[in-house]
Amino acid sequence: MAKKKYKNWKVEHDKDGIAWLHLDVPKSSANILNEQVIIELDSIVNELIKKIPTGVVILSDKESGFIAGADINEFTTFESEEAALINIQRAHTIFNNIENLNCPTVALIHGFCLGGGMELALACRYRIAEENASLGLPEVKLGIHPGFGGTVRSIERMGSFAALDFILTGRTLKARQAKKTRLINYAVPKRHLMTAAKQTILKPPKISSLPWWEKIVNHPLIRPFVAKILIKKVSARAARAHYPAPYAIIDLWLNHLNDRTRMLEEEAKSIARLLVGKTAQNLIRIFKLTDQLKGLVKDKSVSINHIHVIGGGVMGGDIAIWCALQGYDVTLQDQRHETLAAVIQRAAKLYKRLLKQKYRINAALDRLTPDLKGNGLVKADVVIEAIFEDAEVKRNLFKNIEPKLKKTAIIATNTSSIPLEQLTESLKKPDRLVGLHFFNPVSKMPLVEIVVGEKTSKKTQQIAISLTKKIKKLPLPVTSTPGFLVNRILMPYLTEAVTLFEEGVPITVIDKIALDYGMPMGPIELADTVGLDICLHVAENLAESMPITVPEHLRDLVNKKMLGKKTGKGFYTFKKGKLVKPASKNNYTPPTDVKERLILIMINEAMACLRENVAGSKDLIDAGIIFGTGFAPFHGGPLQYVKDRGQEQVVIALEHLEKIHGSRFKPDDGWKTIVIE
Ligand code: NAI
Repeated sequence: MAKKKYKNWKVEHDKDGIAWLHLDVPKSSANILNEQVIIELDSIVNELIKKIPTGVVILSDKESGFIAGADINEFTTFESEEAALINIQRAHTIFNNIENLNCPTVALIHGFCLGGGMELALACRYRIAEENASLGLPEVKLGIHPGFGGTVRSIERMGSFAALDFILTGRTLKARQAKKTRLINYAVPKRHLMTAAKQTILKPPKISSLPWWEKIVNHPLIRPFVAKILIKKVSARAARAHYPAPYAIIDLWLNHLNDRTRMLEEEAKSIARLLVGKTAQNLIRIFKLTDQLKGLVKDKSVSINHIHVIGGGVMGGDIAIWCALQGYDVTLQDQRHETLAAVIQRAAKLYKRLLKQKYRINAALDRLTPDLKGNGLVKADVVIEAIFEDAEVKRNLFKNIEPKLKKTAIIATNTSSIPLEQLTESLKKPDRLVGLHFFNPVSKMPLVEIVVGEKTSKKTQQIAISLTKKIKKLPLPVTSTPGFLVNRILMPYLTEAVTLFEEGVPITVIDKIALDYGMPMGPIELADTVGLDICLHVAENLAESMPITVPEHLRDLVNKKMLGKKTGKGFYTFKKGKLVKPASKNNYTPPTDVKERLILIMINEAMACLRENVAGSKDLIDAGIIFGTGFAPFHGGPLQYVKDRGQEQVVIALEHLEKIHGSRFKPDDGWKTIVIE
């Protein structure tokens, strides 16, 4: 065979006549199935068809793994469904050709094998993975599903139940689990990979067929019942109108399982349709925003060994627990011995759930030291302050601790609303103060706002960003203006919800309308969860600089010590931490503008933040609101929603609300000068 040169592939034929297809995409740490890789693969496969080798092994020359997926940047460039379909059908043809090669084919997998890479592996007759490999079809998380035949082939290899679970959840499997579920044929130590591939080709083992009961599940009379159960499960997590992909997967399986060729064709059509849809486009954008936030770490030389947290309450306790979980030595200081004991108990519970093995649980607990006297201060590289939300109390604390700190140590405050400028007065080195604003609950919320004050030094900022990344959170630098970014946008939404309640709209109706828009939790339940005292505190702080009115009812509840979930009663009642749903009023019809009021008040504030450059860009504001509040990701964030709805329409709607409900809806000045693109 004439040797062709490829940019991404190297083809070697060994003495046994086996063709080894090495993938090594240049200038990239991971292999991505981009258009060029696929076109070259087409050419290689056509050459192989002309002269069939003894066998074919597809492998990666990258340290990071096999293939990390298709090129996500190409997903956003299709101008139409037809253009997307042509592209996908080309990959289908190539993968079908690989599947139909008249010789044994092996995907030899190490590290990551995801998305399109997994689909390529599925098109091979055998999949052999090293024990530490991670395999997955995570497309559903981007609002799509496998599109290179992966839906069909995973079901054939794994059986319907396992494959549908695998695709619908988008989770990754370690090699051993993958072997158990038949996704791969062998899991072997890394050093045996090559030999295993060679052996498999020279002596192709028989592939065992799926157990008999799989056939029952696939029976056309049984499938509708199973599909019903699957749809019920999926709809508990995501509405069809907001997240069509999982439903499309179930539809494909239900309607086309009996006709392989048709199912492959329909899979291609379905993913083309999803790819150009709003949900996928927005979710893909968010995925890229995650990368943008991770990319903020510029100074890789930052070294942090010890973290000292002051304040062992809801936030400080959880921050300390999280940092120790991520491998840091942490001392936790509080005034109260009982508080520290409670944190250790909380830590033991979380570590048990997450780490499972005793030695790992114990190691994490060893890293977390209760420190009533603050002995850890002297060795800390980062001090995280999470005491009461009171500027005077925080200033006093800083004054007391600064003389004990290492010269290079930074102080990070977790304040949720106090501008840093109000806290630096008592510090000799004000450039060491930065905000690290975590969100509640710490273990679940991915974002940390990096609050940058006028005096915060670049070095301090980089240490804070670096720490955030190292503890697996997403850093978002924001200016030190009241409420920073997330609370500033969230608070008008929460107070508007309480105002609606004061006007007579039942709390369940308010929350349901927000949920229907796609919020993960209604605003009233969210206020109860955060704590009404905290909400009141932040609202009062913000009311000094923003056109929000603090609702009287919120004050009343706080005065009555009805603080929400933590006291068992707020707007809702909670039993053992679980919300007790109140009976809904029959025949109640809410005003028609509830959704508009809740959403547009937030969007108007997002525009104000853009105008004031609170977070740098429209994209970063959207990222902050999605990762800090869970704002309906399929809308792509508050400012992306403006783009989709039309800026002019949004302004008209705000003016309309202003006329009826008052000046808090007055369109921000930014609408006149900034065009959302
Ligand atoms: P919390 O009231 O649950 O805990 C505060 C803890 O600090 C208490 O355990 C108290 O004993 C301790 N403390 C007070 N002064 C101290 C001192 N001088 N030395 C040592 N310990 C001291 O408060 P929470 O909710 O944890 O809030 C802490 C900070 O985090 C506040 O600034 C708050 O605004 C902020 N925050 C709160 C969020 C929430 O959802 N609760 C979310 C994000 C930020």
